[in-house]
This record gives sequence, structure tokens and C-alpha cells, in this order.
Amino acid sequence: MTAEPMAVRAVLDVALLDPAGDGSALLDRALQPFGTSTMLPASAYTSSAVLAWEQRHLFAGTWTCVGRLADLSGSGVRQRALLVGDVPTLLTWRAVDQQPRAYANTCRHRGHELLPDGETSTRQSIVCPYHAWSYELDGSLRAAPGFRDLTAFDPDEHRLVELPLAVWHGWVFVHAAHGVDDHAEPGLAAHVAALDRIVAPYSPADLVLRARHTYTVHANWKVVTENYHECYHCPLIHPELCQVSPPTSGDNYRLPGAWVGGSMDLRDEMATMSIDGRSDAPAIPGVDPRNVEYVGLFPNLLISAHPDYVMTHRLVPQAPDRTWVECSWYFRASDPRSTRRTPWTSGTSPTGRTGPRASRCSGDSTRRTTAPGRSPPTKMPCTSSSSWSAGPTAASPSPTCPSSRPAARFVRTNRAAPGVRPENWLTVHACHGPPAPAWRL
Ligand code: FES
Ligand SMILES: [Fe+2]
Repeated sequence: MTAEPMAVRAVLDVALLDPAGDGSALLDRALQPFGTSTMLPASAYTSSAVLAWEQRHLFAGTWTCVGRLADLSGSGVRQRALLVGDVPTLLTWRAVDQQPRAYANTCRHRGHELLPDGETSTRQSIVCPYHAWSYELDGSLRAAPGFRDLTAFDPDEHRLVELPLAVWHGWVFVHAAHGVDDHAEPGLAAHVAALDRIVAPYSPADLVLRARHTYTVHANWKVVTENYHECYHCPLIHPELCQVSPPTSGDNYRLPGAWVGGSMDLRDEMATMSIDGRSDAPAIPGVDPRNVEYVGLFPNLLISAHPDYVMTHRLVPQAPDRTWVECSWYFRASDPRSTRRTPWTSGTSPTGRTGPRASRCSGDSTRRTTAPGRSPPTKMPCTSSSSWSAGPTAASPSPTCPSSRPAARFVRTNRAAPGVRPENWLTVHACHGPPAPAWRL
């Protein structure tokens, strides 16, 4: 990752706090050039202290994707409470100016939570449940019972604390560690940087959600991301994928921005990443019909762009060994057939692919790696709603969801990884560095 050094070093320093770890030596090894480096120390994947640090600095402290603008604006919901990293956040949507906004989910009176985490509201005003102060959706204080006659009280000094929010190709990002007035965060454009010219040709904002799965992977969020970026496991885990896209094809990008990824090729006779390589959907104009892009925008959005559809995985860490994943498929709006044939999903996570998938290397690596799972084949998955996913508190996929089946193989492998047996660990992650013979847990 181009923007890696400081952030990664800081995470590793937190890992040093693990009293059982030989932190310093392991960190040094992990930071070696590709080809000689190892994975991060085990505690980076298993420690609650590391995850707490990551929630503050890597999720709240950078531009975290919180969903799609179309989901928020089209659902009738006007308020949505969620955690961005460790910061309780309130998203609002005002139809009058068509603007999404983000606020600290904290009343300016005595700090009560305005809307419980995970809940939504269709109300046009935000009412604190403690003493009934109310706010407009633009954050201004509408009423404070009993304060009307206090001449020293200035409502403008009691607006909600607004957080930086930006929309990029239809995805909503929040930078929750600072208020907008702090001007402390780099713009989203700098965060995305060169990735824009790779993603823009797919016109993601114009694509329509056709399917969405949510599920929990029992693995650290970095394991999910790392697996997405490698295809070392493809020949054994996803032989079907290899029939559509050679696992050794493509190249990695080394371009500015807080992202990593690369492309892979489709075989000559294949139109897209689907079970049989065929597509019923029209091609997205202006994109390479032989190419699939696999990119991970730090910290939590994985984007897989195909000639006829774009698939995303949005990750929300819930515990060191648990990650909530929202997997979405977007097609051209004009395509009535796109509900007939679906690409691969596996309904699984980036970790659990069942069907073929492509992939690529990430990080400093120069090897091929995997792409997230695609799979659902010929019929649409169990969901086709356009509503905003409720987030990690949402129910798991319906038991009838055809995609709940696939996760199995790889997820099971990852479950065994965190610190159980070194050989399992290495098995899962060998592709992220040479299987270091001197590796120790
Ligand atoms: S804390 Fe919200 S009205 Fe008092
Ligand atoms: Fe896989």
C-alpha cells in the first residue's frame, strides 16, 4: 500500500504491547521487503488492544465506507445510527437539499445518545430521548425546552458536531475522528488518489443494486482482506475460477492512494466472472472486456469490477476474530436481464469463496492473489432489496439463502487460523510472504 508506512508501523507498535510476543523481532521481519518479509505478528490478528487501536485510528481516523448513497436516500429513512470505528455516528438524509450528513451521535446538552446504535428513524427531526432537545437534520438546534428565555443561551453554539462525510462514485465515506470544523482530515480525493481513474470507467454511481448478502466471518478483518488479495489458494480452493480466469494472470498496481490491488485477465472465451464464464448482462461501456479489477480501498471497501458488473465487500470488524461483511452486486440499470444470471458470489466473503474467483496480490507483494468470492449463479440470491444494510447488528443471511452454503470451506480454514496451530496459520497465509521457516507464534 502506498500510504502504508506510518499507519502500519503504529499498528505494529500496538502489537508490541502483547506481553507474550517477541514483538520487536516479528515487527522487523514483517516490514522487510517483499520476498523476505513475514506476516504481521499473531497478536495483530488476535489482540483486543490492537483492534481497539485499529477502530480508533484505522476506521474512525480515516475514510471508512458506511454504505451506498442510493440506499440511504431512497429508503425513506432519514436517520441512521452506526459505529464508525469506535465513534457513535448519526447519518442523516435531507430530501430538501438531497444531502447526506454525519454527526457525532451525542446530544449537545448532556451527551445522551440521540439514536441507539443500529437503529433508524424516518423522523424529520432528531429528538434526544433524555430531555427532549431537538435538532434539524442539518444539525441545527431546533428547540431546547425551558431554555427559550435564557438570553445567554445561543442555539448556534449547540449544533450537533458534524463529521466529515464524502461521496465517491455512490459510496458514502465518513471520517469520524474529527469534527468538520477541525479541518484535520485529508480530503477523500487524496485518500482515493489514483484509484479513481481505475474505478471511474465503471460508473459505479449509475449502477443498480441487484443483490446483497450479509454475513459474519469468524476471522480477523485483516485476514479477510488479505485473502481477498491473494490467489495463491485459487487452484485448490477455487478450481472453477481458474477455468474462467488464470490465477497467475494480471498485474499489481503501485499507484498513489490508500489502496492496493490489481487486475486479472479473463480467458479468451470468457465474458465475465460467472460460473460458466458467460454473461446475460450488457457490458459496461468503456471498460476493458478482458479485464477484472480487484482493489481494496483502505480500510474497509473491496471493489471487484467486471466487464458487466461491480461487486463490493464492505467490512466491519466486530471482534478480533469476527468480521461482518456486506456483499453487494451492481449492474447497469437498463438491463432487465441482469436479474437472471448472477455472477459468482459464493455469497461468501472475501474469505470464503466457493466458486471460482480471481484474485491478485496486495501490499508489497508482486504475486497474484485472489479476488473475493463471487458466485451466485443462475438465480438471484435471497435478497434484492435496495435498503441500507442494517450493519453488523443485522440478522445473518436467511437460512434459505443459497449463498450461506458456500462459505464453508475457506471460512472453516480461517477459523482455525488465529493462534491455534502454527501450521494452520501458515497454511492460510503462506501466500503473503514466503513460508518463513523461522516463523514463530
Ligand atoms: S442530554 Fe439530550 S436533551 Fe439532555
Ligand atoms: Fe478464495
